[in-house]
Amino acid sequence: VEPKKKLDDPISIVSHEMSSLAKNIASLIGSGNPTLNRAAAYYFESDSKKLRPLLVLLLSKALAAIPKEQRNRLKPDHFDTCDQPAYSGVTSSINNVTNGTPDNSLTPLKILHGINPSLILAPLSSPFESLPVEKDINADILPKQRRLAEIVEMIHTASLLHDDVIDHSDTRRGRPSGNVAFTNKMAVLAGDFLLGRASVAIARLRNPEVIELISTSIANLVEGEFMQLKNTIMNRNPDRLDNGKEIPRPTGKVPNPGHEYSVTLPENTTNITHEQNWDAAFQYYLHKTYLKTAALISKSSRSSAVLSGAQEDVLENCYQFGRNLGICFQLVDDILDFTRTSDELGKPAGADLQLGLATGPVLYAWKENPDLGPMIARKFSQKGDIEYAVKNVEKYNGLQKTKELAEEYKNKALENLRTLPESDARAALEFLTNTVTTRTK
Ligand code: FPP
Ligand code: MG
Ligand code: MG
Repeated sequence: VEPKKKLDDPISIVSHEMSSLAKNIASLIGSGNPTLNRAAAYYFESDSKKLRPLLVLLLSKALAAIPKEQRNRLKPDHFDTCDQPAYSGVTSSINNVTNGTPDNSLTPLKILHGINPSLILAPLSSPFESLPVEKDINADILPKQRRLAEIVEMIHTASLLHDDVIDHSDTRRGRPSGNVAFTNKMAVLAGDFLLGRASVAIARLRNPEVIELISTSIANLVEGEFMQLKNTIMNRNPDRLDNGKEIPRPTGKVPNPGHEYSVTLPENTTNITHEQNWDAAFQYYLHKTYLKTAALISKSSRSSAVLSGAQEDVLENCYQFGRNLGICFQLVDDILDFTRTSDELGKPAGADLQLGLATGPVLYAWKENPDLGPMIARKFSQKGDIEYAVKNVEKYNGLQKTKELAEEYKNKALENLRTLPESDARAALEFLTNTVTTRTK
């Protein structure tokens, strides 16, 4: 009999899988270039929450408790590991190289760059072959689900490398950020490289729905960042968009950050009320939040369920769980940006207002005090704007209101979880979900 796992430590349930996560990722991101290797591995070296892979693994484990008869989407070859690349031309060239044929020869590449060509291709083949073939439908976490957890962490890390360039951040996880340690150019390229390797790994899961889900979540991350960026540029440099053509500013009397996105605004935007304007802006904020943070979590949660062979209602519930938890997570992140210090977070604090971003706490304050509108529109670019915003967040309980909204999303996530059969893994997921709103980092 297995000892009862400590439920207040959700990691203990998947500790075995979590401890091989870093090792497996390392085997997926090796290249022939030593500097690229260091840049690509950089963010994996420091301690992080690893929330996304933890969720994928725990959810996979919880899904394994669904009886076999209810997982009829499975085809006979479902548990194959699909280590073999589909494009056999690639396989043979990789094999030739890894078999050592050109190994010790002085190739031009080696002479010019000191690079051993066998290292360039080798990492593509070996790690994929290390997945054990699992035929037992009752096995809990499947090899493909473990690989999914690794892929999701790689994509997240790639997005952080890019994010720190975009946000001009100088620290991450208590260390110099990638852009500072390696330059902007290398940080961007290292992120691209991680995305490329993650894409290979996704393809090798050989599941079209999962490929679609995860690829879409990558696109969603970019869409979310663009929604955030667009306002910034529009309000500060209207002439910088659309090949130099000026983008018309919202015509309403009050500034309207949600203008282009909203579908609820009346035709005549000159008579828009403050309430309508605020609703549209808040909707825009939540949609941006879904795209930049919740999309990867929700789509990887659904992917984990797809790989378990579960039926559509389960897939949808897993998707909704990830969506609600992801939005909750980002709302809390937006609160912590106000309440914690840079030292506590291991990354710049108070960054959002500095970057001109109006997140939940400021939007709630704006609801009560329309005077904040012009400052939000000009992205707090004038002297005293940030201080005024901070004062109003306090005065109108912006943090408290954002926290309440985060709690609502958390409760919806907990409801989604309750549709899964009871298990230790489900209990661990419930615990983890509860800690999202109480976390301090
Ligand atoms: C952190 O947000 C950043 C994200 C959640 C997503 C960033 C996405 C991109 C840069 C798009 C490119 C995507 C890929 C896949 C390469 P934050 O800046 O609010 O949080 P922080 O305080 O941790 O920096
Ligand atoms: Mg950032
Ligand atoms: Mg950012």
